Amino acid sequence: MTATLPSRPTTLAGALELLPKVELHCHVEGAIRPTTVMELAAKNGIALPADDPTELYRYESLNGFLEVFFLVQGVLADQGDWARIAYEAAVDGAAHGMVYRESFFTPARLMAKGQGLGAIIAGLDEGCAAAEAETGVVVNLICDFDREFGPEVALATAEELVALKRAGAPGIERVLGVGYDSIEIGQEPGWYAAAFRTAGAGGLRRTAHQGENSGPDAILACVDLLGAERIDHGMSILEDPDVVSRFVDDRIALTVCPNSNIRIANAFPELAQHVYPAMREAGILATLNTDDPALTDLDLGYEYASAAEAFGYGWDEMVDIALDGVEACWLEDADKAGVRARVADAREALRPDLG
Ligand code: ADE
Ligand code: ZN
Repeated sequence: MTATLPSRPTTLAGALELLPKVELHCHVEGAIRPTTVMELAAKNGIALPADDPTELYRYESLNGFLEVFFLVQGVLADQGDWARIAYEAAVDGAAHGMVYRESFFTPARLMAKGQGLGAIIAGLDEGCAAAEAETGVVVNLICDFDREFGPEVALATAEELVALKRAGAPGIERVLGVGYDSIEIGQEPGWYAAAFRTAGAGGLRRTAHQGENSGPDAILACVDLLGAERIDHGMSILEDPDVVSRFVDDRIALTVCPNSNIRIANAFPELAQHVYPAMREAGILATLNTDDPALTDLDLGYEYASAAEAFGYGWDEMVDIALDGVEACWLEDADKAGVRARVADAREALRPDLG
């Protein structure tokens, strides 16, 4: 009997949906399904300002978005809730070709309400493990400091993470690094130097949300003062050619989220005007990501397909972008090589037959 080979996709968007993809900038709380937001709010006795949370998902600015993000985070009450959202975020990503993700979680607001960092991580780990067993997708974690809570809370969180690591706490091996997110205006990267230094000395990798609402000087400060190995967003980098050169020379990655920058930051009127192609033409290792898929009605397949269409990229350029995601990830070399081979093999196996 001869096996029938699966037919190749006939559209670029179809092939990009199937292409194995890595995602380095996705917040687990921004990936909570709207139905789950409603169910957890009901379970935990939390009143939401609308029966259907998606009615609230319209943003004029980053700060406007963050108000809704904080509201959504507020429905999480216990370890089981964290496990549920980690599981759902991973299987939803897998449904659009995501094979590996480094996912942010931002615990400060929930820790201020009394939740333990160890329980949050244990819950996230349970959910990731369940999704991994079911779909094969691998998800690691990055603990983000919430700038709204300031540098002292960030330092205390870094110290606790390092202590959990030393103690071999449940799920802590999934936490590869730290970052920071939330408000940018009125903040200075240097305030967080002690928190990032503590995390780095404790063996954690470092990234930082910057350049979404701030200039290239702040992006460079993340590298110089915080030891950031990647920058999340980095939208303003092209304003300073010296900062661009530094990123190109040192292969410092940007985790860019073009559709988020349209829908959340309102930074460009339409995708075709985004600086992403200019970043890549300048030689920057600019990866492609969704940021907060459930709060912006996005998925990684659409992110790739819409970028291809808006920026005029073909299949090979999109596979190159996927490979750049692998290069910028924090997996150990052997695991990285495995993911790289999956993406590289797909170049011919999934090359769309456009007739
Ligand atoms: N938290 C979740 N999404 C964010 C974003 N786009 N910028 C800053 N903080 C965030
Ligand atoms: Zn983000």
